[in-house]
Amino acid sequence: MTKRIPLVAGNWKMNKTIAEARELVSSMSARLREIGGVEKVLCPPFTSLMAISTMLAGTDIGLGAQNMYWEEKGAFTGEVSPLMIKELCKYVIIGHSERRAYFGETDETVNKRLRAAQKFDLTPIVCVGETLDEYESGRTEAVVARQIKLGLADADSAFAPRIVIAYEPVWAIGTGKASSGENANGVVSKVIRPAMSALFGEATAQAIRVLYGGSVNAGNASEFFNQPEIDGALVGGASLKADEFAAITKAASRLDRGQLTID
Ligand code: 13P
Repeated sequence: MTKRIPLVAGNWKMNKTIAEARELVSSMSARLREIGGVEKVLCPPFTSLMAISTMLAGTDIGLGAQNMYWEEKGAFTGEVSPLMIKELCKYVIIGHSERRAYFGETDETVNKRLRAAQKFDLTPIVCVGETLDEYESGRTEAVVARQIKLGLADADSAFAPRIVIAYEPVWAIGTGKASSGENANGVVSKVIRPAMSALFGEATAQAIRVLYGGSVNAGNASEFFNQPEIDGALVGGASLKADEFAAITKAASRLDRGQLTID
């Protein structure tokens, strides 16, 4: 029997100097440590990973990178490799919509990163989600299904249950206009789990954690966590505020996704 353990991750994006990052972690780590029954992950910028990994050592708070390249080493100026990430982190965010929109990421490069995460035993948090234009023209289903199919292609079935999917409709990110819980739940149940099932089988599709992301805050978090298919959140802006992030994490800790089996 495998339960889907809730997961809340804070994506700090390009915010916080090292000193500021230390300050934020100091102000939230004691509170986060008191909250059980939920996996907690902080994803600061690369420059702060070393400092924060030292601060989180020995705690149950995990560390994640916001991106990584897929090659192990070599002449790739400005990139950071999975081998380097692995020294500090257990998690890595892959294919965030900002990387797709501003830095040319495609489903194919998402897949290369996913397979690098698999090779280096990192837990990938793979972001999918439609743009406003795609949403308004009724293409959500096709876009999200394609992102899963191509982004996760050729992952090993033994690794697949470790994959975390973050459904982040682009129109809800940083806009203050979150999706409704019902809408997000529908995308997970009608598109994301069936796409995972087609790739890896139904048991794995049911075992994988699916997070919602896009304007999550302490006030609306429970609306998502009350949905049967949503197992946590990928939080942007609100993860930069200790009180908000702790409150969101606390709300997720009340989830109980039971009765699931992996064959
Ligand atoms: P916001 O919570 O700021 O909308 O950002 C969501 C996000 O992109 C997390 O990865």
